[in-house]
Amino acid sequence: MAALDDLREEIKRLEHDMRERLAAVDDGASLDAFRADFTGRKGRVSQLFKRLGRLDPSERSEAGRLLNALKKRASEAVALAETETRRERLAKRLGDERVDMSLPGVYSSFGHLHPLTLVQREIESIFMRMGFSVATGPEIETEYYNFDALNIPVEHPARADWDTFYVDESTLLRPHTSPVQIRVMEETEPPVRIICPGRCYRRDTQDATHSPVFHQIELLWVEEGLSLANLKYVLEIFTHEFFGEGYEMLFSGDYFPFTEPSVQVHIKAPGAADWLEIMGAGMVDPAVLEAVGYDTETYTGFAFGLGIERMAMLKYGIDDIRVFLTNDLRFIRQF
Ligand code: FA5
Repeated sequence: MAALDDLREEIKRLEHDMRERLAAVDDGASLDAFRADFTGRKGRVSQLFKRLGRLDPSERSEAGRLLNALKKRASEAVALAETETRRERLAKRLGDERVDMSLPGVYSSFGHLHPLTLVQREIESIFMRMGFSVATGPEIETEYYNFDALNIPVEHPARADWDTFYVDESTLLRPHTSPVQIRVMEETEPPVRIICPGRCYRRDTQDATHSPVFHQIELLWVEEGLSLANLKYVLEIFTHEFFGEGYEMLFSGDYFPFTEPSVQVHIKAPGAADWLEIMGAGMVDPAVLEAVGYDTETYTGFAFGLGIERMAMLKYGIDDIRVFLTNDLRFIRQF
């Protein structure tokens, strides 16, 4: 009986130690050490089982019951400690990975569209709402589309009006967007209603209102029964939409070989002293329509070429065209 009592004492001690050690388990390593010391193959629980052989056979079944109960409690305690360390590990990780929303963020600055692009898009959207579609043509153009097809044959003095950069004898950097009129009409049966934005190049000396590289928007409308009055009406609606109240528009006579009659249009901003020329325009010369095979008895049309830089200058009160090209961020960031 004494041996069984001893075993009971041992079991009590072991359970006491086990509780103390378990209370100190706080990570995977201390849990492994606990397992090795208590529930492992060579641990203290297994050692106690070895005592069974030394007991009197009458005590063995009671001792076996006590030891098995101990073993079961020990494994349950390990399982519980395992779950807890896992939970603690997870909580720690979540704690470490927590995003502190009160910390200052990382900011990257976004760019935005250049004022000329903004103005171009605004002009496009006004005309698209009026039913025009957008066409494009090449910046490196042939003499044929740039001059001949626009009723400006070789030796015509008007060629000198467009101080042109030549690439070779018959190829040039287009000085205006008017050649796109011809390219579109060659491909399209009337009615035609297009606008055509694009870059142009001229050997112009740079000053406050001229740049060797600038942008135009061409407009062409060919249909039955159009007159100069329709052109004026379209322009009045357009300038009012684009500028708003207080801007004045002035029509005066001009000359272009591909329009008859031809006009130029000036705009004055509210309170400004000077007028600024924004476009050349006119009724498309029948010779141009005939050259692309249109029936000039039925169709008439009008066209214009509008300077985008000049429109932006008038709208934003800019008095020097060079600011668009100098890449000064203090200027660009205002838009
Ligand atoms: C032309 O270029 C004609 N193709 C316009 C036209 C089209 C007439 C269709 C009839 C029918 P002009 O050379 O006047 O015309 O130029 C038109 C506009 O482009 C000018 O009013 C101006 O706003 C702009 N422009 C011309 N040259 C420059 C330049 N060097 N820098 C900035 N803007 C310019």
